[in-house]
Amino acid sequence: MALKDVFLQHPERRYIMFGGKGGLGKTTFSAAAAYWLATHGKKVLVFSVDPQASLTDIFKQDIFGKGPVKIMENLWAQEIDADSHIKAYQQEIRQKILDRYGLPEVPEEIENYIQAASAEPAMEESAIFDAVVDVVMKGDYDYYIYDLVPLGHALYYLSMAKVYDEWINKITKLREDMREYEEMVSRLKHEKITEQDEILQELLYIKNRINTSAGILTDKTKTGFFFVVTPEAMIIEDTKKAAEMFAKFDVPLAGYVVNRVIPHELLEQNIPEYLRRRIAMQDQHLKEVHTVFDDQVMALVPEMERDVTGLPMIKKLADIMFA
Ligand SMILES: Nc1ncnc2c1ncn2[C@@H]1O[C@H](COP(=O)(O)OP(=O)(O)OP(=O)(O)O)[C@@H](O)[C@H]1O
Ligand SMILES: [Mg+2]
Repeated sequence: MALKDVFLQHPERRYIMFGGKGGLGKTTFSAAAAYWLATHGKKVLVFSVDPQASLTDIFKQDIFGKGPVKIMENLWAQEIDADSHIKAYQQEIRQKILDRYGLPEVPEEIENYIQAASAEPAMEESAIFDAVVDVVMKGDYDYYIYDLVPLGHALYYLSMAKVYDEWINKITKLREDMREYEEMVSRLKHEKITEQDEILQELLYIKNRINTSAGILTDKTKTGFFFVVTPEAMIIEDTKKAAEMFAKFDVPLAGYVVNRVIPHELLEQNIPEYLRRRIAMQDQHLKEVHTVFDDQVMALVPEMERDVTGLPMIKKLADIMFA
């Protein structure tokens, strides 16, 4: 099946992701897919949490940390500034504690706890995930294209329900610590402890969000995950392994898209032996790609004459990718 048909036959798949090893073309394909959908009348948001601001590069427009930025008719791009999200998150926790307990400042132990928890990778992932949930739940786009970070890292996001669980456990612990603190204060003030537990309410709210979003992202009917591969032995090998791992997280695999295929037309021209050999080598690996991934291979995208930045180049690539 051609990539175009995958999209046309599954209009209910509104959450699209391109995953793969570093530098293979995830951002390029995300932008190309967003462009293609936008020109077909769909309202699209392509977004990333990559601190390297790669959407800024490909669209040649500074969008980092600016919310959704309109690129062209029907197409918006957003780069989430994860760091500021984590800071805002910490501040929110502090404020809640101050409001709840009417304190002039956050007690040192609690502050230390907030700092320590924020340094945890799980907390960082959760803050990022939270931002992603916000984007996906608040917007009113027809399509959301999530430009992922390289594989290993992406696995974190895709196991987010698990990551989030860890984070919730941490917060629950914080809740318990607060309770002790609260009891102590109450004893000092000779007051009765109020039973109303706002923090617990908060936890339940978060849990509900996780279930909703984890549901979306692992829902085969709503989500399409594509692997980007190139015709190289090591990449094929690694992608095979990664696909097995992703399957364990119930990631709905929609297919593979091969990038950087040197055009065969070149063989009809007077080209150097060097290039002929590269093409022959790629042919071998392409055979392997077809054997291993079989009818899951949705498109072959050529090595372009230059890097893919700016709308004209994105269009050029998208026209081939979705032919
Ligand atoms: N088919 C292609 N032809 C020419 N250049 C390409 C092609 N695909 C990707 N590139 C270029 O290769 C570079 C890496 O591509 P891209 O940024 O899309 O990879 P990525 O998988 O998103 O990388 P990262 O893992 O760092 O996020 C970019 O400069 C891009 O323009
Ligand atoms: Mg990228």
